[in-house]
Amino acid sequence: MGILSFCFLVFCIHELVSAQITTEPSEVAAINKLIDYWGLKSKLNLTTDPCTPGASWAAETANPRVACDCAANICHITHLKIYALDISGELPRELFQLTELMDLNLGQNILSGSIPPEIGNLLKMQYLSLGINNFSGLVPVAFGNLTKLKSLSFSSNDFNGPLPVDLGKLTSLEQLYIDSSGVSGPIPQELSNLKSLHTVWASANGFTGKLPEFFGTFTNLTTLRLEGTALEGPIPSSYAALTKLEDLRIGDLSGEDSTLDFLVNLTSLAILSLRSAQVTGEIPSQIGTFPNLQSLDLSFNKLTGSIPNTFEDSQSLHFLYLGSNMLNGEIPSNIITPELRALDISFNSITGNLPANFAKIGQSLNVLGTLVNGDGLLDGKASEISRCLISDNKCTEKFPVNSFAVKCGGSQQISSNGVRFDDDSETLGASSIYTSSNNNWAVSNTGSFISNPNGPQYTTHTASQITGTFDSELYKTARVSPNSLRYYGLGLRNGRYNVELHFSEIQMDDSESWKGLGKRLFDIYIQGERVVQDFNIKKEAHGSKRALVKSFEANVTNTNIDIHFKWAGKGTCCIPFQSTFGPLVSAIHVSQVSNVSGSSNDNKKQVGRIVGITLGVVAGMLITASVFYLWWVKKTPEHMRVSTDSPKKNLTSV
Ligand SMILES: *[C@@H]1O[C@H](CO)[C@@H](O)[C@H](O)[C@H]1NC(C)=O
Ligand SMILES: *[C@@H]1O[C@H](CO)[C@@H](O)[C@H](O)[C@H]1NC(C)=O
Ligand SMILES: *[C@@H]1O[C@H](CO)[C@@H](O)[C@H](O)[C@H]1NC(C)=O
Ligand SMILES: *[C@@H]1O[C@H](CO)[C@@H](O)[C@H](O)[C@H]1NC(C)=O
Ligand SMILES: *[C@@H]1O[C@H](CO)[C@@H](O)[C@H](O)[C@H]1NC(C)=O
Ligand SMILES: *[C@@H]1O[C@H](CO)[C@@H](O)[C@H](O)[C@H]1NC(C)=O
Ligand SMILES: *[C@@H]1O[C@H](CO)[C@@H](O)[C@H](O)[C@H]1NC(C)=O
Repeated sequence: MGILSFCFLVFCIHELVSAQITTEPSEVAAINKLIDYWGLKSKLNLTTDPCTPGASWAAETANPRVACDCAANICHITHLKIYALDISGELPRELFQLTELMDLNLGQNILSGSIPPEIGNLLKMQYLSLGINNFSGLVPVAFGNLTKLKSLSFSSNDFNGPLPVDLGKLTSLEQLYIDSSGVSGPIPQELSNLKSLHTVWASANGFTGKLPEFFGTFTNLTTLRLEGTALEGPIPSSYAALTKLEDLRIGDLSGEDSTLDFLVNLTSLAILSLRSAQVTGEIPSQIGTFPNLQSLDLSFNKLTGSIPNTFEDSQSLHFLYLGSNMLNGEIPSNIITPELRALDISFNSITGNLPANFAKIGQSLNVLGTLVNGDGLLDGKASEISRCLISDNKCTEKFPVNSFAVKCGGSQQISSNGVRFDDDSETLGASSIYTSSNNNWAVSNTGSFISNPNGPQYTTHTASQITGTFDSELYKTARVSPNSLRYYGLGLRNGRYNVELHFSEIQMDDSESWKGLGKRLFDIYIQGERVVQDFNIKKEAHGSKRALVKSFEANVTNTNIDIHFKWAGKGTCCIPFQSTFGPLVSAIHVSQVSNVSGSSNDNKKQVGRIVGITLGVVAGMLITASVFYLWWVKKTPEHMRVSTDSPKKNLTSV
């Protein structure tokens, strides 16, 4: 009897609840069509009412997730999440019948086509995430209808054209994620209405015009990222009001110079990166006193004066990048604090001795191209090259070599055509230089993966076969860097060289998945000249895990060669995983071009067999040119040394 009534009671309650739920029938029909359309039946089998209380698919962590609001007599679908399940195709019209949606997350899929204007029907929307998809066309004007939006994301898509001015109507917006979305043109003045913004990720877009003054009125901003655009300086002084900023990254600017004066009151900063931002003047001493500052990157600018000694008292700073500026004075003797993990002062006129405790971060200390007495830190050849790179030092080599080859990020290998690629498997730090055991080359990395500081350290590998080559193994490992990766050939006979660079995209996928949507873009400089801009391995090789060899000609005039891979803020940041960006290189082979054969193709077959070439008068001319070149390298930030595109003459014709 007891059991019966218990069962009966359960039955009763169930019936009662079912009777009470009524979900708006048009929404039930729409959600079922969506589930059909995206083939999600096996993951989300809505045989009962989608708004059934306590349904497993309504849980916050469910994916797919459907959750409802039943506060009124009728239930409405308010939350829909289909995240990282590789749903594809265009957005179906049924989606826009879910007019009570306030939270829609379709992030990390391969949705494509343009976003229909009906998106503007979803007037209750507060959180809209369409990031990491394959949407194209213009950013819909109808977004401007969604005035309740607090968070809007369409990062990492394939849109084109400008941002619609209607975005200026979204005055409740607190978070805007539009990095790497494909948009271009000026940032509309109407966006100045978005005073509630506290997070803006807008890097890696084709924005033009000046950095908007009005960002300086968004006084609640904690995060602003604007790297890798075509925006022009100066950084407006209005930004001095953004005292809540914790993470500020502006870089890769052209146009007018900026000073750092606007920073002095931005004391909440934890991450500050103004790399390649045309910054001049001195480093304000206040920066060293910011109590939360962990990462400071002011590299590739035109800063003058000395390094403020306030950094000596910092109890927060982990990473300090000041490389490639015009700083002078002595290196502060206590700059290596207990907290500091990496220091880059390379390519500055800084003098003095290494701090006594340099061994603490010895693996992450770069003083190359400075006047700092690096004895004890740099290996013999590295300190030699360091001296070759400063002032007008003319270097000579008693036993010059005419080629070298490096298996970047991997162990020694002999290629199918007999070239021995040296081991380069040493673990690099966040600001380090390593010289090969044969002293023929050195490698340096500067940059830390800020969002992933304990992640894979500057090498990557794959177990997959690499196609398009007889030397698959050569491409299974590679060096990567979040900023600047540089190889120096050392002790070379002066003359004309062929530089063969081997690439294969092994971190980014090319599959029919959101994981295949990543874009890696970086620049290549040889001997200080930019030889490739916005290099995209996957695109040029027509896929991932395919070999690609690029050859360049270069002149060695002072016994060394500088091959520089540099990130300019472009591409996606985080596909298929955090911190997937920046330069990647698999192998390097540099060999002198015989004066017999001018063509670099013939040259490949002669690797290792070329004997000494005396250049006589020609060498004399090149060295004279190199004195100017080194002076120029010293005085001019790299990004300003625009390639002159001079016609490549055959050496024998000089
Ligand atoms: C959905 O659930 C019903 C009832 O539980 C079941 O009969 C049906 O096979 C399920 N469909 C799928 C595609 O799993
Ligand atoms: C914007 O919302 C209004 C209702 O407030 C609606 O009539 C209009 O069609 C919507 N516009 C777009 C572009 O969706
Ligand atoms: C800034 O944030 C504060 C606290 O959250 C809030 O009261 C204020 O309205 C915000 N200011 C703007 C312009 O949105
Ligand atoms: C920094 O704050 C001080 C004190 O409020 C003020 O006098 C000064 O003008 C501010 N500096 C900048 C650059 O805004
Ligand atoms: C993205 O869309 C383009 C067409 O716009 C298409 O060629 C490409 O294959 C799509 N990518 C994926 C991963 O679906
Ligand atoms: C190559 O250059 C060297 C030095 O100028 C010269 O002695 C030699 O004859 C040249 N070889 C040829 C084949 O021109
Ligand atoms: C190398 O030097 C020769 C002779 O001065 C010149 O013609 C050629 O353009 C230079 N090549 C490069 C890549 O600078």
